[in-house]
Amino acid sequence: MPAIDELRIRKILDSRGNATVEVDVRAGGIVGRAAAPSGASTGTHEVAAWPEGGVDEGMRIFSKQIAAKLKGMEASDQESVDGELHAIDGTANFARIGGNISTATSLAVAKAAAAASRKPLFVYLSDGRTFPFPLGNVIGGGRHAIGGTDIQEFHSLALNGSPSKSVLANAAVHKAVAAMLVKKLPGEAIGRGDEGAWVAKIGNEEALAVLADACRQVSKEAGFTCAPALDLAASEFYRQGKYVYKEKTLAPDRQIEYVAGLVDSFGLALVEDPLQEEDFEGFARLTEFVGDACVVVGDDLFCTDPKRLQRGIDLGAANAILIKPNQIGTLTDTRATVALAAKAGYKTVMSHRSGETTDETIAHLAVAFGCYAIKTGAVGGERIAKLNELVRIEEYIGG
Ligand code: PGA
Ligand code: ZN
Repeated sequence: MPAIDELRIRKILDSRGNATVEVDVRAGGIVGRAAAPSGASTGTHEVAAWPEGGVDEGMRIFSKQIAAKLKGMEASDQESVDGELHAIDGTANFARIGGNISTATSLAVAKAAAAASRKPLFVYLSDGRTFPFPLGNVIGGGRHAIGGTDIQEFHSLALNGSPSKSVLANAAVHKAVAAMLVKKLPGEAIGRGDEGAWVAKIGNEEALAVLADACRQVSKEAGFTCAPALDLAASEFYRQGKYVYKEKTLAPDRQIEYVAGLVDSFGLALVEDPLQEEDFEGFARLTEFVGDACVVVGDDLFCTDPKRLQRGIDLGAANAILIKPNQIGTLTDTRATVALAAKAGYKTVMSHRSGETTDETIAHLAVAFGCYAIKTGAVGGERIAKLNELVRIEEYIGG
């Protein structure tokens, strides 16, 4: 396998118009390229996205230290490359070099190694050939929208198995929701949030009713199930020990009952972050109530961190984990977390961030790692970059 000949970094735009980085790694005359996304409702326990000094300082560190250290290393020796990134950083959470710098570098190295071996990334990474179910948000609020619902994301989970049909079905749910909102709110402006989901002046349960209707309608047309799902991102409206919604305030026990009630009455197939990010015990209780019928996902709870996941496994908190590579900072670390989840029987959901680029890498990771689902929105250029890649992977495997 070829050695790394050259590394470059550039500042590019993300979908919110913020600066992020893209890294090119050349090995064996071929370039692997990866970019880092960024969150808005970030978990407290994620690695630091940028060093003190921000994107520019991260780029300076890359050019002065990282590029020189990685040059000459074997592109296929991912563990050593990622180990070197940790060594250069020297902190527990990539505070010195920035987790977005390490993530883009780590993924670009893997893509260069895959390209040099003339394989698509998912083939290079594993023998896994199962497709994740696409999870796409169609109504939104919270940190991703101004004036929307308290609950951050209302999703359609296309339980079909064929990517090409599933991505169109989720887009159809997105369309059906728009038609229902226009009818429900005549003359009102309806916008779109950071991830392309509709933003309207409606309550959480009203939005859920619209979502469930749209899912039913599209399921009938498609001939397979599009199930309603939520990411509450509950840490974002947790204040002084209570969950503060626009129309009500709930103590933690009531929040558990409330979410269990929503799962039951709306047939939710999946709920993410139904409780705030430190409440492992609350997650465990909710999972005990609804875990047989519903995928309970920890995002901010786990932050793709194997130590936090292990604590969740020990306590029975959740039965699934969201996987965001830049929450932990390297491909090797991401892989270790996925392996731990699989060993414990937890489902994995590979995920985009609210601020995205057109980078398509997570589609390959989701297939390579055998993820249960891939969460990457339903529409919008930076979202369909991943979805369309999944369709290409389907064709590649089929062919
Ligand atoms: P993000 O979060 O805004 O931090 O990307 C999205 C999510 O909560 O899943
Ligand atoms: Zn989330």
